[in-house]
Amino acid sequence: MINPNPTDLTDLITVAQVSKHFPLPDGKGEFTVLSNVSLVVKAGEVVALLGRSGSGKSTLLRIMAGLIPPSQGQVLSNGRPLRGANNDVAMVFQSFALLPWLTVQENVELGLEARGVKREERRRRALKAIDLVGLDGFESAYPKELSGGMKQRVGFARAFVLEPQVLFMDEPFSALDVLTSENLRGEIDDLWNAKTFPSKSILIVTHNIEEAVFLADRAVILGANPGHIRGEVVIDLPRPHERNSPHFASLVDYIYTVMTNPEIEVTGQVSVQPQPQPAAPSPYAIALPHARVGGISGLLELIVDQPEGTDDIPRLAERLQLAVDDLLPILDAAVLLGFAAVSQGDVCLTDIGQDFATTTILRSKDLFRKQVLTHVPVIRSIVQTLREKRSGSMRADFFLDLWDEHFPREEAERQFATAIDWGRYAELFEYDASEERLYLSETSPDLESVASVAD
Ligand SMILES: Nc1ncnc2c1ncn2[C@@H]1O[C@H](COP(=O)(O)OP(=O)(O)OP(=O)(O)O)[C@@H](O)[C@H]1O
Ligand SMILES: [Mg+2]
Repeated sequence: MINPNPTDLTDLITVAQVSKHFPLPDGKGEFTVLSNVSLVVKAGEVVALLGRSGSGKSTLLRIMAGLIPPSQGQVLSNGRPLRGANNDVAMVFQSFALLPWLTVQENVELGLEARGVKREERRRRALKAIDLVGLDGFESAYPKELSGGMKQRVGFARAFVLEPQVLFMDEPFSALDVLTSENLRGEIDDLWNAKTFPSKSILIVTHNIEEAVFLADRAVILGANPGHIRGEVVIDLPRPHERNSPHFASLVDYIYTVMTNPEIEVTGQVSVQPQPQPAAPSPYAIALPHARVGGISGLLELIVDQPEGTDDIPRLAERLQLAVDDLLPILDAAVLLGFAAVSQGDVCLTDIGQDFATTTILRSKDLFRKQVLTHVPVIRSIVQTLREKRSGSMRADFFLDLWDEHFPREEAERQFATAIDWGRYAELFEYDASEERLYLSETSPDLESVASVAD
C-alpha cells in the first residue's frame, strides 16, 4: 500500500483529548497514565514519539491500535471512531513477539489468518513480505534458529504482510546490538525513501534521539506524570537525513535539551548552530614564489614567441639556461598572477599573459598592478596598511614581523624582498633601503576600485 501521493496529507489516525486511567491495586482509586492527549498521524509522514520511561508511549500506541480503550476522549481511524482492534495499523514490538512453535512463514501468515484471508493469498502475500525484509530462503526456519536481527525482520514481515495504513513500531531496534540495529534502521529508511514502503505512515516510539531525527519527519515529545504532549519538533532535513549535517546535530541537541529539562517549553524552534568558520589565513602565511618581475616577463616573452604560444617546461628551462628547479618558482609566479597556465608539462599563456608580454611598458605595469592586487592578498594588505597611515609610510620591520610569524627569518626576508619587487614594479609602493621604510606610491590606486582575490 504505497502512498501514491506524498502530498496527500489526509488524517489517518486522530487522537482527540484522550486520557487513560488505570485502577490502583487494592481498589485505592486510579492512576492517570495519559492526560488530554491529542495527536494526528497524517498520510505520508513518519512520526517519532519520544518521552521518558513511564510517560505512557506504549499505552498511547495500544489505545491507537484499539487494543485498549481510552478512559476519556476518542480515536478516529480514517475518519471513523475506533471500536475494537484497529485494522488500519500493524505493530512491530521491541520483543519481536514471535511464536516459537511456528515457522517464519507461519508467523508471518498468522495475522492474515486472523483476518480470514484465504490460504493461497496468505502464502503469496507472506512470501512477498519475507522477500521484502531479506529473509528469502528462511521461510521454514523456526525463530530459535534465527539471530536477533533476523527475528526482528520476521517481526517487520508480519506487520508488512497486513499492508497497514500506519505501521506502529514500539522501540523496534532497541533489543538489537548496535550494528544490527543500525543496519535494519538503514534498510527501513531506504524502503521509506524509495517510496516502496508497505504502509502510508510510520509511528515509531523510541528512546534514541538520533534514531528519531534520522527516521522521522517530526518528533512528538511526551512529558510524564501524567503523560501529556509537550510539543513537537519538525525534522526539516532533506531525505535521507544526513547524520553529519550541522542541522542534524542542532535537532539532536535541541531534543536532548528539552528531554533533559522537563520544565522547558517545547517550541520546536531549533536554532541552527553557526558552524565555526575556519579563520581566513593571514595573507602573510601564503608563501610567494621567489621570482623577480624581470624573470617573469622574460619567461612570458619567450613563450609568446613560440608558434603555438605554448612550450614544454624542460625545453623552456634549457632555453632560459636555468635548472628546472630554478624555473619552477618563475612559472609558479606567472600562474599565480594569471599570466600562464600549466598542464601536462606544457605551459601556455593566458590572454592577459599574451597582452602583458607584447604590450608597452606602461600598459604592462597597469596589467601587472591589476593582477597583483587581484591575486596576491599580501600585496593588497601592504597597500591597505600604508593607506591607513596618514604619512603613507611604515617601517619595514612592521611587515617583516608579520612574515616572521609564519616563516623562519631568512625566508621572511625573502618573502619581503619578493613583495617589494612586485609592489615596486606595479608602482603600488616604494622601499627606501637606507631608512628601511615603505612608502605608498602617489599613483597607488584606491583598493575599492580593484576587485579582491577573485578565486
Ligand atoms: N495495564 C496497566 N495497568 C496499570 N498500570 C499500567 C498498565 N499499563 C501501563 N501502566 C502504567 O502506565 C505507565 C506508562 O506505561 P507505558 O508502558 O505506557 O510507558 P512507556 O512510556 O511506554 O515507558 P517505557 O519507555 O518504559 O516503555 C507506567 O507507569 C505503567 O506502569
Ligand atoms: Mg513502552
